[in-house]
Amino acid sequence: MHLRVLGSAAGGGFPQWNCNCPNCDGLRLGRIQARARTQSSIAVSANGQDWLLINASPDVLAQIRETPALQPARAVRDSGIAAVLLMDAQIDHVTGLLMLREHQGPLRLLATREVLSDIGQGFPVTRILSHYCGVQIHEIASDASTFFAPGLPELPMQAVALCSKPPPYSPFRGAPRPGDNIGLVLHNPTTGARAFYAPGLGEITPELQEIMAGCDLVLVDGTFWSADEMQAMGLSRKSAADMGHLPQSGPGGMLEHLQRLPAGTRKLLIHINNTNPILVEDSPERALLDSLGIEVAHDGMDLQF
Ligand code: MLT
Ligand code: MN
Ligand code: ZN
Repeated sequence: MHLRVLGSAAGGGFPQWNCNCPNCDGLRLGRIQARARTQSSIAVSANGQDWLLINASPDVLAQIRETPALQPARAVRDSGIAAVLLMDAQIDHVTGLLMLREHQGPLRLLATREVLSDIGQGFPVTRILSHYCGVQIHEIASDASTFFAPGLPELPMQAVALCSKPPPYSPFRGAPRPGDNIGLVLHNPTTGARAFYAPGLGEITPELQEIMAGCDLVLVDGTFWSADEMQAMGLSRKSAADMGHLPQSGPGGMLEHLQRLPAGTRKLLIHINNTNPILVEDSPERALLDSLGIEVAHDGMDLQF
């Protein structure tokens, strides 16, 4: 199974257009050892021709340009993107749908009822698209039942509800519902291998830890290193928890959870905020990740499972 990282940064990307934090400024001025990153998205394919786009980032057009496999050119108007699946309704995960409006025929869109309510009302992307290509909606359950995307019969998946936050524009920001954010177990039916993807994750319950422990590859929320990262830099009043993200460091943090996974699990962080010190390739935080066998996803990374 092919899993391609199209974008590995959190909302805003890296560097962020208006940010002069040590990372963003450092990257622009060539003072730090780091790679630029676009906003969070992956694509998955069993045959290398027909792909499931998971999240539609505001950077989707640049990401498609960087990924020839998504452009098989079988007709005058054609795309390798067979369907789009949304992990949540955050701006950095859904805005790219508007960039896909030239799609020939209705765009196949998989999302939970909760996500569909936000992108049908608060940020009415599906209503807007109805005036362009239109969308063919496939509502998915977040109860771990197995489902397939239309056109992708070789990719069984399960969605699980996560504890995190719907976007700031959602009427449910203060009272999250199960299904606002999902984690996805992707199966390789030929080998039995599994991958877990969750770019936005606020809490790892014992049940979720068990699901992750059953996967060969785990690609999870790498937004913040510390709980008060943005606050400490004077960039936001919000903590990682306020934004629905589990930080990597500290008691109960992501590193502790990843360390408890079986040896041999491939562990990667994705959706990395531009303030996160792990972006700096020679930072002590990055050295700690290396010593724990945890990788930092980057744009263009090809992961097989
Ligand atoms: C988040 O995941 O919290 C988002 O990246 C925030 C945003 O899109 O601004
Ligand atoms: Mn985000
Ligand atoms: Zn920054």
